[in-house]
Amino acid sequence: MPISPYTLLTGAPSEHGAAVPAGVPPLGEAGLLAVPFSADRAPEVELPLPVEALLAHYEAKGEAGEVVEVPVANGDGVGRVLLYGVGDGSAGALRKAGAAVVRRGRGRSSVRAVLPEGPVAAFVEGALLATYTFRIGETRSAPAALVEFVGDGVEAEVARGAVVAEAVSFARDLANTPASIKTPQWLAERATERAEAAGGVDVKVWDERELRAEGFGGILAVGQGSVSPPRLVRLSYSPQGATRHVVLVGKGITFDTGGLSLKPSDGMKFMKTDMAGAATVIAAVGALATLGARVRVTALVAAAENAFSGTAQRPSDVITQYGGRTVEVLNTDAEGRLVMADALAYADAELDPDVMVDVATLTGAISVALGKDVGAVFASDDALAAELTEAATQTGERLWRMPLIEDYSPALESSVADLANIEAGSTYGAGSITAALFLREFTGGRPWAHLDIAGVGRSTADEGFLSKGATGYGVRLLLDWLTRS
Ligand code: BES
Ligand code: MN
Ligand code: ZN
Repeated sequence: MPISPYTLLTGAPSEHGAAVPAGVPPLGEAGLLAVPFSADRAPEVELPLPVEALLAHYEAKGEAGEVVEVPVANGDGVGRVLLYGVGDGSAGALRKAGAAVVRRGRGRSSVRAVLPEGPVAAFVEGALLATYTFRIGETRSAPAALVEFVGDGVEAEVARGAVVAEAVSFARDLANTPASIKTPQWLAERATERAEAAGGVDVKVWDERELRAEGFGGILAVGQGSVSPPRLVRLSYSPQGATRHVVLVGKGITFDTGGLSLKPSDGMKFMKTDMAGAATVIAAVGALATLGARVRVTALVAAAENAFSGTAQRPSDVITQYGGRTVEVLNTDAEGRLVMADALAYADAELDPDVMVDVATLTGAISVALGKDVGAVFASDDALAAELTEAATQTGERLWRMPLIEDYSPALESSVADLANIEAGSTYGAGSITAALFLREFTGGRPWAHLDIAGVGRSTADEGFLSKGATGYGVRLLLDWLTRS
């Protein structure tokens, strides 16, 4: 479901920055007005009691995420002023504050929020993402129907926050959609639609015949067990004057049963989100034009359903990846790397990228290593790793660099093919690292980074700017990174 719409109310700026502008009713239509405060700055609003006494009474410290509700007269009735803490005023604090304000206004027709000082886009992002819900058919309309921001001279910042939040919610929608609807062809159609709506993004879709003709053996092998055939999608954003070419690759497994190496039911039930990486790259590319990115970006979406059937590939089958390398498929549940390898090899051979970044819900092992709140980045290039971790720090998407341990490479040796898709024995372990090493084989030695988002792709609770289900992890950090230069 889309996030709530917003409006920006502007007015005469006070010497203190944000203030309720003259001529605007102090409370919003639903009788709610949110006003920022911090430990060393009192809220700029008239209240029925002295503000120091109120804050002392509630032991309010102005921390990000803190909200103090104060009943106030509103015409003949009662309204509420929400005093919200902005913490240290950093982007992370404001994102949290925005989400907290909107969550207090849930169920109301609107929330009006006086914008804080500082990185306003982050506040807007947090506020709008907190309005996100996903429900098939109709909305529960749990979130406030409308968010009104009040501030001056911040149009561009507010617009940026809203564009980013919308892109994240689009990625969440794709990942939350059930796999009964979300076939590879459906995903290709959504990507095409999104690219067309963005403008300036060219689209090419390979169907199964074209995939066969051009030798995309990994995508075909993974998709061969499904009645819904696989697709490869290429989205190209080429602004004038761009010098750097970035290729993004997204894992688009629309459902992962594990194939004949079948998953247990507990592990299988979340596998409609196994295309979260694809959702992330589609959403990111869709927002580049609006955000004025100056870098050339090509996104590849490798989409297939990893089904369990009589036509599915078997453990021990040998497949030929794009470009000719052979892989012994020892476990059909290690399918993500097979579709990703085709796309990476194609990018290396045909697109001449300066850097490649892939995003994939690749291994359950990564959440053993880093849990559900921290994503992993593996990189063959230190500068690229640093750029991505810096972007992630800005956007508050926690990201930790993991090592590509050379000594573990023998794990992927096969006696019958160039490579095996998993370690046959149990000498090396390190499932996330060996998966990354497998992908690296197909990058042609180019600067490359791999984001393993299997742990962070899904949230178990409605909390802050996250909602239960898909998180849209990676959209914000990619957009931050791609709009830097
Ligand atoms: N899609 C899964 C990884 C995954 C697990 C994503 C949990 C989200 C939550 C991937 O295709 C997979 O099945 N990986 C296997 C690899 C193994 C067979 C080497 C895994 O992690 O168990
Ligand atoms: Mn799998
Ligand atoms: Zn998978």
